[in-house]
Amino acid sequence: MKGLILAGGAGSRLYPLTLVASKQLQPVYDKPMIYHPLTTLIEGGVREICLISTPHDLPRFKQLLGDGSRMGISIEYREQAKPEGIAQAFLIAESFIGNDAVALILGDNIFYGNNGFGEAFAEFTSGATIFGYHVHDPERYGVVEFDADGKAISIEEKPKEPKSNYAVPGLYIYDNDVLEITKNTKPSARGELEITAVNVEYLMRGTLHVEKLSRGFAWLDAGTSTSLHEASAYVQTIESRTGIKIGCPEEAAFRNGFLSISQLAAISAAMPNCEYRAYLENVVQESRRIENSKSR
Ligand code: G1P
Repeated sequence: MKGLILAGGAGSRLYPLTLVASKQLQPVYDKPMIYHPLTTLIEGGVREICLISTPHDLPRFKQLLGDGSRMGISIEYREQAKPEGIAQAFLIAESFIGNDAVALILGDNIFYGNNGFGEAFAEFTSGATIFGYHVHDPERYGVVEFDADGKAISIEEKPKEPKSNYAVPGLYIYDNDVLEITKNTKPSARGELEITAVNVEYLMRGTLHVEKLSRGFAWLDAGTSTSLHEASAYVQTIESRTGIKIGCPEEAAFRNGFLSISQLAAISAAMPNCEYRAYLENVVQESRRIENSKSR
């Protein structure tokens, strides 16, 4: 499965923070925001990733992430010249996707908790898999309605009168039909290729699977100054309590077998002296201790 990260948009709600660096490059406590969706894809076992951003911001993402080898993955880059909708990502990345299935994640979506997507990635075979998450303000999102048996029966984009409290988070897994479906999708009234229109098409074909995310799972929004601050506070609270980092792509790559212990050790040794490096060195030490105790 291929992975797409869409990190476009003007980030106007975060102005003036976004005058120089895009929203997805802003810090969420101790890391750039983009580390979170990147980690989610890696945790899902996705190794080939394409990052899509504006011509203005793409050079900075390249500077930050390079070709991905420092994280045991490969990253390609594509430009979204104009923001013409989330589903446009599939058309921009068509040659990258090839004949594969694809997981699309939005660059400002932060997820944390109980291996929420593990099974969805592992068990995906065909159709589309999206998620439903209970929120207090569904009108800001795509909203999914379920029938009494828990089957999805409608999806609407930012409805004035939402039919449920279940918002659709920005992680979507599709089979290769997504290319043909997107090509046949008409732009909405606001001139965008809506991801909701793609999901509605899968729903009509009977191949849409919507999974409710459990209440122990966190989906954070970081699109406004307040929510960005709250996301930072959340990450800081969990990290200082547990000593475990949220959104650490190098660690996720290591735990998924994309990096060996010695590769992770070399990668952290090349970092400047900082808390992030100390954390990774600790991951290396603990893993070596466990290896040694097994071989004894
Ligand atoms: C987009 C999608 C919406 C989805 C949301 C998740 O909204 O259009 O369906 O629920 O992402 O973050 P936007 O962030 O563009 O307002």
